[in-house]
Amino acid sequence: QAIRLADYAPPNWLVNEVQLTFRLAPRATRVLSRIRFRPNPEAGGRAFFLHGEHLKLIRASVDGAEISPRLVDGGLEADVPDAPFTWEAEVEIDPEANTALEGLYLSNGMYCTQCEAEGFRRITFYPDRPDVMAPFTVRIEGPEPVLLSNGNPTASGAGWAEWTDPWPKPAYLFALVAGDLVALEDSFTTMSGREVTLKLWVRPGDEHKTEFAMEALKKSMRWDEEVYGREYDLDIFQIVAVSDFNMGAMENKGLNIFNTSAVLASPDTSTDANFERIEAIVAHEYFHNWTGNRITCRDWFQLSLKEGLTVFRDQSFTADMRPGGVSRIEDVMALRGRQFREDNGPLAHQVQPDSFVEINNFYTATIYEKGAEVIRMLKTLVGDAAYRDALDLYFARHDGEACTIDDWLKVFEDATGRDLAQFRLWYKQAGTPRLDVTEDWDGANYTLTFRQHMPATPGQNEKKPMVIPIATGLLGPNGDEVVPTTVLEMTEAEQSFTFEGLAARPVPSILRGFSAPVILNRETSPEERAFLLAHDTDPFNKWEAGRALAKDVLIAMITGEEPPLAAYLGALAAMLRDEGQSPAFRALALRLPGEDDIAQTLFDANVTPDPARIHDAAETLRQEVAEHLQDMLPRLAAECVVAEPFAPTGEQAGQRALALEVLKLTTRLDGGKAAAAMFESAGNMTLSLGALGCLLDAEKGEDALAAFAAKWQGDALVMDKWFMMQVVHAAPEKAAATAEALTAHPAFNMKNPNRFRAVFGALAMNAAGFHHASGKGYDLLADWIIRLDPLNPQIAARMSSAFETWKRYDADRQAQIRAALERIKASENLSRDTGEMVGRILAA
Ligand code: ARG
Ligand code: ZN
Repeated sequence: QAIRLADYAPPNWLVNEVQLTFRLAPRATRVLSRIRFRPNPEAGGRAFFLHGEHLKLIRASVDGAEISPRLVDGGLEADVPDAPFTWEAEVEIDPEANTALEGLYLSNGMYCTQCEAEGFRRITFYPDRPDVMAPFTVRIEGPEPVLLSNGNPTASGAGWAEWTDPWPKPAYLFALVAGDLVALEDSFTTMSGREVTLKLWVRPGDEHKTEFAMEALKKSMRWDEEVYGREYDLDIFQIVAVSDFNMGAMENKGLNIFNTSAVLASPDTSTDANFERIEAIVAHEYFHNWTGNRITCRDWFQLSLKEGLTVFRDQSFTADMRPGGVSRIEDVMALRGRQFREDNGPLAHQVQPDSFVEINNFYTATIYEKGAEVIRMLKTLVGDAAYRDALDLYFARHDGEACTIDDWLKVFEDATGRDLAQFRLWYKQAGTPRLDVTEDWDGANYTLTFRQHMPATPGQNEKKPMVIPIATGLLGPNGDEVVPTTVLEMTEAEQSFTFEGLAARPVPSILRGFSAPVILNRETSPEERAFLLAHDTDPFNKWEAGRALAKDVLIAMITGEEPPLAAYLGALAAMLRDEGQSPAFRALALRLPGEDDIAQTLFDANVTPDPARIHDAAETLRQEVAEHLQDMLPRLAAECVVAEPFAPTGEQAGQRALALEVLKLTTRLDGGKAAAAMFESAGNMTLSLGALGCLLDAEKGEDALAAFAAKWQGDALVMDKWFMMQVVHAAPEKAAATAEALTAHPAFNMKNPNRFRAVFGALAMNAAGFHHASGKGYDLLADWIIRLDPLNPQIAARMSSAFETWKRYDADRQAQIRAALERIKASENLSRDTGEMVGRILAA
């Protein structure tokens, strides 16, 4: 059942061109295909197989002669000539019955597609694998006013339209949209002077939410020209917003399809975090045009070739659009929260896996975010100029090809002369390296000794030492920087680096900018952490010092040691008074580490985490912080008032973020008075939602919730927030009951992924609630995964990763989770998606 990288074989048949005709009808769409095949000289055979699932074959022919293909599991086989030939087929599909949201489906009466990874085989019979690339011509017939596909519009008439995509592409990049849509139009002049039409299509009524994404698109197009020398290559680029969508968005050639949540924005309805995410996703999908579409993946084991690189590119874009160093901190927080969690549990896997059962289960934080970190390290190691040279070579050498991760590394070897055999382990060894540091000072020379080791992961017990770039700077006793950032290149299991001729014992700032995705362990004092929080010149490590100190406090509170509370509170107050620090930075530094992060840290230290105690410790510490900072809060709140009209800039977002951190603390002291006032007066969604969260924390949210729902009942994306907030902010003993009650709300719709995630993603995020000792959180989630699986296996499978941390917990919780997982596993006709996930989690 598993598919293996080692079994890769080139396709027997290649495709010269594809012509498709769609006769749209909700329950019975006809798809006519005309495909020119040619034998692949590189192939081992001539056997002819086409993928196809959930298709009703009406007729098929080879070179005009009707044939009766053999229908087999997952597709069909046919006898064909030993030379180029034309395949024609007509199939019928049922878009309305398609609740899996893969292939062609209906969302709110609008036709749309999602073909990555293997959805095209639900549209027609085809070699649905990314190493088969072809130009497509698509004719769409239907009464819908707007009929779209990839490429350039080449002809249209009453009730039909034709699109031609001249760029050879794999089937996973195919897209079709048809419906009652309106567009915001704009244009972009490329660096060589070509005019590109830009259209952002939405349902009537959403026009006022399109402007921000359009601006983000134009910025992305310019940035890719300036930073990577990449120009757009069609006459038109379109984005469509769809309300039922499994993922964030999809980079279909020339016709990106987006989850409404990843593209629609307005100050009234979107938070600053929403704006930032939308800007990043618009960029991400646009950047795929070169890293994904022009150069695609040979097979799905190479997924990180396009995803890791494109995430790295979108992170770099965000850092340029929103300077100040906070976007790197946010990226690392997300990496630790999702990828480290994955890497340290039963779902740990390689950035380039060796096998999988269902590829949709591998659109993971490891493939995406760790993949991006690997490329960031490569750039750190070779330097900026060599990185750009290597990318130029990559585009020149591989344009129009379906490539492998080894092709990518070869480009870097050829461009830089560096041997990357050891570096390649980052793609092949799963798990998060641990880096232990000791130091030595002899009165003049300072030596750092690092030791790396990597815990075993499923199927991989032995690990070899990796190349780890450790960006390090040294601070003198007065806080001045005595050695600027230097990249120490670690290649051995244990290795020392000496800095010579120093006047005094320095304080090291190690792993600046989080230069490698590792867990750094270093025995140090609270005073030294406070010193780095005050003086480090690297924004990431400055923040990291404060975070580490907060973690020390929480861990000590939980394990019953003496917490370094005074050092932490003093350092926090000093940091807040430091007006040289941006509000955005101060807001991040005020936040406590997440409860899941603390659970993992305790587990690593051989302490069984108790989610209730972790939650109580975090609550106690927040109360301490509020009381300690009491006198500063009003001044900080005043400082954060944005005087200018709303703009979704990083600067204003930082001010609002700090205002809300201050409001959370204030709420602990005034019982919600300030939050109620903020909720009344907030002129934007960021402050309004933040105030609502504070009121819910204070258990005074009833009226605000009702007012919020009354105001926003017609806006699905805002109502998603309404659902989510109640579960995220529920007290631990109420979280499951709150989620369950919300599933009975008339606006709950399990078929809509955004709404399902708003309730159950939120339940999984509420660590103390989900892991409440009653086991109700586990049971409820299992019930709903079982219910969702037959409708939407992708989302059901994804949600089951909420259980991935189960081995951390005590015997009672493990028994409850095991029972929940066994119950899912035993349900009838369980999908391959969920079956694989539950099987891997249980195998731990
Ligand atoms: N390639 C898309 C992106 O990174 C994600 C598509 C995921 N699709 C899936 N079925 N898992 O933007
Ligand atoms: Zn992507």
